[in-house]
Amino acid sequence: MKDIKEIISYLKDKGFIYSGSSIYGGLANSWDFGPLGAMLKDNIKNEWKKFFVDKQENIFHLDTGIILNPKVWEASGHVGKFNDPMIDCKECKTRFRADHLIEQEKNIDAENWSFEKQTELIQKDIKCPVCQKQNWTEARAFELMFKTSGSKTSEEETLYLRPETAQGVFINFKNVIDTMNAKIPFGIGQVGKSFRNEVTPGNFIFRTKEFEQLELEFFIKENDSQKYFNLYLDKIKSFLLSLGLNKANIKQEEVDKDSLAHYSKRTVDFEYNFPFGYGELLGIADRGSFDLSNHSNFSNESLEYHDQKNNEKYIPHIIETSMGVERLFLAIISELLKTEQDGETERDVLKLPYTLTPYKASIMPLTNKLEEEANNLFKDLLTKDLGPINFLKGGSIGKRYRKQDAIGTMFCITFDFDSLEDKKVTIRNRDTMIQERIDIANIKTYIEQNAG
Ligand code: GAP
Repeated sequence: MKDIKEIISYLKDKGFIYSGSSIYGGLANSWDFGPLGAMLKDNIKNEWKKFFVDKQENIFHLDTGIILNPKVWEASGHVGKFNDPMIDCKECKTRFRADHLIEQEKNIDAENWSFEKQTELIQKDIKCPVCQKQNWTEARAFELMFKTSGSKTSEEETLYLRPETAQGVFINFKNVIDTMNAKIPFGIGQVGKSFRNEVTPGNFIFRTKEFEQLELEFFIKENDSQKYFNLYLDKIKSFLLSLGLNKANIKQEEVDKDSLAHYSKRTVDFEYNFPFGYGELLGIADRGSFDLSNHSNFSNESLEYHDQKNNEKYIPHIIETSMGVERLFLAIISELLKTEQDGETERDVLKLPYTLTPYKASIMPLTNKLEEEANNLFKDLLTKDLGPINFLKGGSIGKRYRKQDAIGTMFCITFDFDSLEDKKVTIRNRDTMIQERIDIANIKTYIEQNAG
C-alpha cells in the first residue's frame, strides 16, 4: 500500500481530487473532486444503490432536503447532544478534540470521560503538540451541526445543515407507507451530502466538514432486530468485497455500550486499514424505536405501523447501515493502486473492478496519421452505451497504455494501418496485458464478455 502523501499526489496529478478553493489560496481540509474523482464517486454510489436498493425486495429510495424543519433536530437529539469535546491552547490558539489529544499523547481512550476529567489530565500532563507550551482552556462542548439562518417573516430563524441523511428518511416514513403500500419489513435508502463542523478534520478526505453518506434504514418488528442486524452484517461484508477491498484489511468492532451514539442500542463498526492506520469505514446500528417514537412525540403525528393482517399496531424498530462515500473512495484507492513490475520497468495500475472504472476503454490511433479514422471509430463507440470511453493520441502506445493503467481503464483499443483493411483492432486488457485482434464490429460484445 502506498503512503498517504503518495496517494494524495497521485490523485491530484491524475485529476481525481484537487485541494479545495486552490486559486484563492485554498480552504483548510476541503477538497474538490476532479473529473475522474467525480466519475469514481458516482460509480461507488451507483454500486451501493444497485446492491442495497435496486436488487433488493422492498427497498425504496428517497432524496430529501439538506435543510429540514429545525424541530427535526430537536426530536432526533442532535440539538444539545451532538457535540464533541474541544480544548484550545491559549498560547498558539490551536484547537484540539480533547479525547483525541489524550489518545494521541497518552494512548488512553478518553472518549467517555467527563469534560472535567479530560481537562484535568490535559492541563496537568499534556503539552501542546504545536507550540510545546502547557496553557490550556477548559474542555467544552463543540456543537457539530452547522447553523445557517432563513427568514420566515421579518425574524431570522436558525436552521441546520443535516449531519446525517437518516432523519429525512424517518420523517417520511409515513409518506412512504401511504404512497408505496410498503409493508414491514421494508427499507428506505438515501444518498447525499451531510455536514459536520468537525473540531479536527483531517487525514485527507477521511474526516471533512462536508461529505456524502450512503444510508439504509430498515424498518422491522422489535423481535426481528437480531435477525436483520446479522443479515446486514453479511450484506456489508459482501458489498465491501465486491468493491475490491481485501478481507485482511477490514476489521469488525463491536462498539462498547458506553460509547454508543445517543440513538443506538447496539453498533458494529467496520474499520479499514488506511495508510494512516485503522479508521471507521461504516457502521451498522440498532436504532430501536428511538427515532420514530421521538418524531411521533415531537410532531404529534402517529408514526405507528398498522399491521392489518395480524391486527396489531406498533412503532417499528430500525436497523441502519451508514457509510461515507469519501471513506470508501479512499479505502478503494489505498487498496487497489499498485505498482507492478513489467519486464524491466514498473507500471502504476489502478485495479478497480470494471463497474468502478472511470473509463471503460480508451481508443488510440497507432500514429497521428490515423487520427481521423480512429476518431470516427471513437465517435461510433460513444453511441453504443459502453459507458464512458476516451480518445488518446500522441506519444508511444506503451506510454499511453501506462497512462490508462494508472487511472484504471480496463481496455485499450489500438487502431493501426491494418485496421483500415481488415476492420480489426488490437484490444489490450489492463490486468493481464494480453493483446488480442478482434473485429471492430465485435468490440462491444468482447468488452461485455471480458469485463470481469
Ligand atoms: N446515521 C448514522 C450516522 O451518521 P456516523 O457513524 O456518525 O453514523 C456514518 O456516520 C458514516 O459517515 C461513518 O462511518 C463515515 O463513513 C461517514 N462519516 C461520518 N463523519 C464523517 C466525516 N466528518 N467525514 C467523512 N465521513 C464521515
